[in-house]
Amino acid sequence: MGHKVEFRTSGKTVEWDDKYESILELAEENGVGIESECQQGYCGACKVKLLSGEVDMSDDSGLEDEDLDSNMILPCVAAPKTDVALEA
Ligand code: FES
Repeated sequence: MGHKVEFRTSGKTVEWDDKYESILELAEENGVGIESECQQGYCGACKVKLLSGEVDMSDDSGLEDEDLDSNMILPCVAAPKTDVALEA
């Protein structure tokens, strides 16, 4: 609750609220376009780079090892643990 989520490419910073299911939903509500398909963390369509901060992900099976190494996250199953900045 209360963490700030910055969508750096879109130039928008919005406040997280626990009413959202995921960062993807927060993005959609705020007009930030992130591609998505499964919305359950396994297809990888939604992945974006985490530039700073930390997220909780309920599943990361849609990410390859190299994605994990380069700080990619799956916004459809992620919630912020701290203030975060994303490349989206
Ligand atoms: S939409 Fe499939 S992993 Fe996020």
